Amino acid sequence: MTTLRWGLLFMLKYPHVLRRVQAEIDDVIGRGRLPCMADQDNMPYTRATITEVQRVADIVPLSVPHRTTTELQLGGYVIPAGTAILANLTAILNDPKHFPEPEKFRPERHLDERGDFVKNQALIPFSIGEITCTAARWRHQGKENTVTSPVKRLQR
Ligand code: HEM
Repeated sequence: MTTLRWGLLFMLKYPHVLRRVQAEIDDVIGRGRLPCMADQDNMPYTRATITEVQRVADIVPLSVPHRTTTELQLGGYVIPAGTAILANLTAILNDPKHFPEPEKFRPERHLDERGDFVKNQALIPFSIGEITCTAARWRHQGKENTVTSPVKRLQR
């Protein structure tokens, strides 16, 4: 719901993005039916826009706290058992090495020169490692249809 709200806010703030998403929706889905999973691969700009919303919205900035169960070494540091660990997702989602001019909302950054969607490995709003968000597995189906459906209905 939070991501959906951010998405609608960005659509209002960047009408040129909204127009491109709407054009793609009209082209691929049309007005006579609802979106489905099979549409996803044919909608790279919409997918890039939703991905950029997730990057900039950054709704779980420090993920969920974890705790080490044994002592371990990481990057030259010894981390004792029982240490609380927070993953700084904000730092990665805004790292200019991975996302140049990270403060800018720019869906095109997730497209290659042919306009195909490219998954950036640093795009980790659902966290990283063995335990990540359960919903991430079906996020594309859920989110893309949830975002696409209301945008489809917005008046031009
Ligand atoms: C865009 C929306 C969402 C984002 C960005 C997000 C992000 C996250 C993050 C960062 C974690 C922590 C992972 C970790 O422990 O390191 C998490 C865990 C989890 N999320 Fe989400 N989440 C989203 C939506 C949802 C939704 C809609 C559901 C369920 C309907 C959900 C279910 C869960 C569950 C069950 C966990 C705990 C997983 C575990 O500990 O095994 N999430 N999520």
